[in-house]
Formats: sequence, C-alpha cells, structure tokens
Amino acid sequence: MIAKTEEDFNGLREIGEICGAIRDKLVQCTKPGITTKELDEIAGEIFEKAGAQSAPKGEYDFPGYTCISINEEVAHGIPRDRIIQEGNLVNIDVSGSKNGYFADTGISFVVGKGEVILQKICDVAKEAFDTGLEKAKPGSKKSALGKAVHNVAKQHGLTVIKNLTGHGVGRSIHEAPEHIFNYFSRWDDEILKDGMVIAFEPFISTFEEEVFQSQDGWTFLTDKSQVAQYEHTVILTKEGPIITTL
Ligand code: CO
Ligand code: CO
Repeated sequence: MIAKTEEDFNGLREIGEICGAIRDKLVQCTKPGITTKELDEIAGEIFEKAGAQSAPKGEYDFPGYTCISINEEVAHGIPRDRIIQEGNLVNIDVSGSKNGYFADTGISFVVGKGEVILQKICDVAKEAFDTGLEKAKPGSKKSALGKAVHNVAKQHGLTVIKNLTGHGVGRSIHEAPEHIFNYFSRWDDEILKDGMVIAFEPFISTFEEEVFQSQDGWTFLTDKSQVAQYEHTVILTKEGPIITTL
C-alpha cells in the first residue's frame, strides 16, 4: 500500500508494534526443551489480548499463529511437537493484522551455544538489511535493495536465497510490489514511491541459492545450506524509512 493519511501511519504503527512485541517475546521464551507449538501458543495469546489476528492463520489457513522454522527449515515452518535444542538455528516469523492494517517481521537466531557459522549468517542477515535499507528511498530503484543485500553476502563469502523475496504489505500480508529480490535483477525497473510499505527480508545462505517445498505443503527447506533471515515492515518516506516492527 501507499500510506497517506495519519490513520494509515497510526494503523501500521499499531500492528507493527504488536508483531514486534510477539517476535521479541517468542525469542525470549526460546529455550532448549520447549516445543515450537508451545512457543506458538504464547503468540496466539498475545494476538488475542491485543485484538489482532495472525496473518498466516487468517489469510492462508496456515496451521499456526506464527511460522517457526528450525535448522534445515528456512521459512513457513509449522509449529508442532518439535523440541528445540541447544545450538539450533531458529527462525521466528510473525505477521498479523488489526483494523485492516498488516505487519510482517522475522528473525533468525542461535539457541545458546552453536556453530560459529550460524551466528555469522544471522549477523550478516541483519547487516544486509541495514545496508539495503539505506537504499530504500522514494524515487530510487527497487532493485538497489537486492543489489546491496547480495553484495553484503558476497563480502562475507556467503550468498542469498533467490526464490524467497520481500514484498509489499499494509492492507494485506502480500501485495504490490510483489517481489523485493535478494539479488540484483536487471528486469526490475520499479521505482520506490513515497509512503510505500514493504516487508524487507534478506535471506543469507552458506551456499545454496534456492529453497524447495516440503511435503507438508508449507515449509521451505534446504539440502545442506544454513540460512538466516531478518525482516521488518518499513514505510518509505522522504524523511527516511519508518520501521513499524522494531
Ligand atoms: Co515474514
Ligand atoms: Co514477509
């Protein structure tokens, strides 16, 4: 969407704050021994208390309030009886709506002590986000974000997932612009607009560049790569980007 009115900005900020708070609470509650289902139930309670709805559940009939993905699961992991262990790479992705406004945010992190490479890809995902965000200005090319993300990955000897992308958000969970790539696409000549709302989400990978879908019909997996994501909902303005999901 293009945010224009005071109501738009306030509505986007409100749901952004709720999704950000759920993300932080779930990260804080992620300890060895807890199941992804137990974490998801905490999210469900906060959504309800806040008078907000889970976007994956409400829009796509996803079997959970949030997407929780472990290790070889990259995205859209289904909360279930999988027990989280020390050293796991966990991704928590929270998206929701309130009063017709949507937000989407996600983070990958390591539980306790893990392999050094896991912390590295998490750090590089955040660095890629921060570097890409500097290019997120009204009037600039959308493709500049992906170019920045891929460059940061390459500087660290890593790469990006090319078939998972950021997207427009705001009045629904996925809307125009359809894709914000994690690499430079010469065919992408779209210009970013003032007030445009995007979910920007770099996926940094150790070597594979594509994920594939699990037989459960939801989860995206890799074979041997390790992948980290970092995502926020951002309103692009002439005065600078506003991150709604901090
Ligand atoms: Co997300
Ligand atoms: Co997203």
